Amino acid sequence: MRIFERLEELYAIGGGPGANRPAYSPAEDEAIELAARWMSGAGLTVERDTAGNLIGRLDGTCPELPELWTGSHLDSVPAGGRFDGALGVVAGIEAVERLGRQGRTLGVVSFRSEEVGCLGSRARTAEIGELPGAFVELHIEQGPRLDRAGAPLAVVPAIVGYARGELTLTGRAGHAGTTPMDDRDDALVAAAQRVLAIREVALGIPEAVATVGRMIVEPGGVNVIPSAVTLSVDARAPDRERLDQLVAAIGFEPTLCVQPVAMDEAVCAAIRAAIEELDLPVVELPSGAGHDAGILAAAGVPSAMLFVRSLNGGVSHSPEELSSPEDVALAVEALGRTLERLSC
Ligand code: HGY
Ligand code: MN
Ligand code: MN
Repeated sequence: MRIFERLEELYAIGGGPGANRPAYSPAEDEAIELAARWMSGAGLTVERDTAGNLIGRLDGTCPELPELWTGSHLDSVPAGGRFDGALGVVAGIEAVERLGRQGRTLGVVSFRSEEVGCLGSRARTAEIGELPGAFVELHIEQGPRLDRAGAPLAVVPAIVGYARGELTLTGRAGHAGTTPMDDRDDALVAAAQRVLAIREVALGIPEAVATVGRMIVEPGGVNVIPSAVTLSVDARAPDRERLDQLVAAIGFEPTLCVQPVAMDEAVCAAIRAAIEELDLPVVELPSGAGHDAGILAAAGVPSAMLFVRSLNGGVSHSPEELSSPEDVALAVEALGRTLERLSC
């Protein structure tokens, strides 16, 4: 299956274990150039905008109609999975190539650096280039619900809001051997207590989640009592009220805040109809992950997402991320039918 071969080629970039194509890295550059070659090979004309986004276009027969885009991102988290982002780009090329010329011009986009705050799609929507009339993003589910429901595909009616930032706990550096335990101001002990407190806050707000994914301990000597610890904070909730409540209760100043956003009903309906045409159950699954589709939707571009089932218990942001060739084949078929339905 060409899609899986292409996903493997992308996965091999940056060396293992896992996908290692950090934002704005040579590895992400290499992945984008590879996708650009695949787009050209599919007969698409390729544009690279000033933010590094890549768009391949298949001109439509009615150039006066707004463009219709699909796609996702090619950067990854450290030691990420094969499918996150990459599937949406590779499957988008496949679906457009199979569809051929439609009424609307079809675009396949790889947005730059999604994992570090959707930088490419936010730059594009901040008026650095024209926007499509509609956007459909295919993405792996990154969770266990479709497998539990026995469904290969889902429509995504909404995307979670998230706030990211840092917290720094300070203490007093000291000698690990000569400082009595009751005479310490240990920043790492304070940080450990704060991580547990953040967990309790999130547990207390329905459907909220919060993660400390990175911790920088200073000065970092194994025989030095830490004087400062900086924690990363990633806080998410399905609506604005709970997100505000979560951020306030954790007590940090977000440096990035993306509000929860509803997907476009007409685009969702086109995805739903495509899934029904394949005689598959239609599952509605709000996304707990952030996506470029959320940025486009917030900028007023009618957008929606199609999820394909995750296997392996839904694990993602991990080399164990998995979807099956059968489900991916269904997802490409559903994506093509969705684009066809929206492109007249
Ligand atoms: O973090 C996220 O939700 C996405 O994977 N960027
Ligand atoms: Mn991701
Ligand atoms: Mn993603």
